[in-house]
Amino acid sequence: MNVSMTVNGRSVTADVDPPTLLTDFLRDHLGLTGTHVGCDTGQCGACTVHLDGRAVKACSVLAAQAESADVVTIEGLSDGDGELHPMQAAFRQEHGLQCGFCTPGMVMAAIDLVKTYPNASDATIRENLEGNICRCTGYENIVRAVKSGAAGMGG
Ligand code: FES
Ligand code: FES
Repeated sequence: MNVSMTVNGRSVTADVDPPTLLTDFLRDHLGLTGTHVGCDTGQCGACTVHLDGRAVKACSVLAAQAESADVVTIEGLSDGDGELHPMQAAFRQEHGLQCGFCTPGMVMAAIDLVKTYPNASDATIRENLEGNICRCTGYENIVRAVKSGAAGMGG
């Protein structure tokens, strides 16, 4: 079947098997490997992307369900001039990553979080990142990064 959507501002169309997950569509068909797959069961959040402006776990969405949608991945956040999105810059500044595997999903989830809660407390940040698993940072720096990113986004 044919699916068409906008990914990072670009119109894309591909012929896929009906059960193709959005993660596989992004990674295998479009080569956008910044969206990571950690579990494929909707638990780790490494695959988080924005679908019509909201954070979703792309391993829990079929490519066909994203038909005509506007998808943004980690690759689509910076402006193309090498300027990082404020949330990406904050994660770098605050050492919110170690191995970096969870980071694309964390950043995508954090941006959505800040849009909903511009002045989120530590507790709110932790609660909202519960669906994103990081195995190596202990979350302290991630929480700091989200706060700093929120300030950078004008929150
Ligand atoms: S790969 Fe999607 S939640 Fe883990
Ligand atoms: S930085 Fe390694 S899993 Fe989060």
